[in-house]
Amino acid sequence: MRVFLTGATGFIGSALVPELISAGHQVLGLARSDAGARFLTEAGALVQRGDLEDLESLHMGAAMSDGVIHLAFNHDFSKYIANCEADRQAIEALGSALVGSDRPLVVTSGTGMVYAPGRLATEDDLAAPSSAVPRGASEEAADSLVSRGVRASVVRLPQVHDRVKHGLVTFAIAIAREKGVSAYIGEGLNRWPAVHLRDAAPLYRLALEKGAREKGGGARYHAVAEEGVGMREIADAIGRGLKVPVVSLSPEEAAGHFGWLGVFAGIDSPASSALTQQRLGWRPTAQPGMISDLDHARDFEAG
Ligand SMILES: NC(=O)c1ccc[n+]([C@@H]2O[C@H](COP(=O)([O-])OP(=O)(O)OC[C@H]3O[C@@H](n4cnc5c(N)ncnc54)[C@H](OP(=O)(O)O)[C@@H]3O)[C@@H](O)[C@H]2O)c1
Repeated sequence: MRVFLTGATGFIGSALVPELISAGHQVLGLARSDAGARFLTEAGALVQRGDLEDLESLHMGAAMSDGVIHLAFNHDFSKYIANCEADRQAIEALGSALVGSDRPLVVTSGTGMVYAPGRLATEDDLAAPSSAVPRGASEEAADSLVSRGVRASVVRLPQVHDRVKHGLVTFAIAIAREKGVSAYIGEGLNRWPAVHLRDAAPLYRLALEKGAREKGGGARYHAVAEEGVGMREIADAIGRGLKVPVVSLSPEEAAGHFGWLGVFAGIDSPASSALTQQRLGWRPTAQPGMISDLDHARDFEAG
């Protein structure tokens, strides 16, 4: 397939480009800068110049392709709601080029989008609406395309890690470095699920190749290797790495310590990938787990 890949120059995209090419696909990657275009060319991909805000460039890339994977997202959290709504528009532009065809579209969401207190979130759980959680816009956009006959599916990501980046934990490290303490809330029993970068990339490929066949669209997949890593364990690993004290904070104190990350820091969102493994034959095999990656993280090398 010729696969149009947005976010091809990012953390996950950089792992997905070689994954797709080595499986025999051709990649048309979205690049908004000369540096991004050079990176993609060197990785063996074709380049579609454009921007998330330039909906025509997204529509064109999708129209020229046999399938689309959408990873790009503006991670400026000071404009989070606007960025989530821009993601809705981007998905709509990509999907509108696929209406009336069997060409697949894979969009990105998060396992934290599911509210499932006291149990593991599953693929069959619906995401929170965008009125409650802004990023719900991404799954709503996919659902709207499914209702128009597009073979759209959703990959929900947990914290994706290697030794360089670790999802939201990367931001928690920066905060702990700045504040001189690594914090968790209460007893730190709340959990974040996780997956290694090398396991996340093949799941996107499988979702593209085999996904959403059952109902013509609407499938959800969870890229989860570790169902829930405790926040206390994460805070301890950060404390070890930075050689700073580890402290428990009340929810009120946490808002001051974590800033914008405070919204996420107290969330208990363990998730399962059992249905994904069953439906796509995906198996997370890459080691190490998130704590082990943190224990060897590049963030801590300098200090
Ligand atoms: N990493 C995680 O742990 C995690 C967890 C949950 C969900 N996710 C989601 O997974 C997806 C990929 O994440 P990631 O970690 O790979 O993100 P990333 O490293 O920040 O990469 C973001 C990508 O989006 C592109 N992008 C940003 N703004 C753009 C714009 N205005 N126009 C065109 N391209 C733009 C970037 O291009 P440039 O290279 O030009 O900047 C880059 O390719 C995102 O939807 C993210 O929210 C990630």
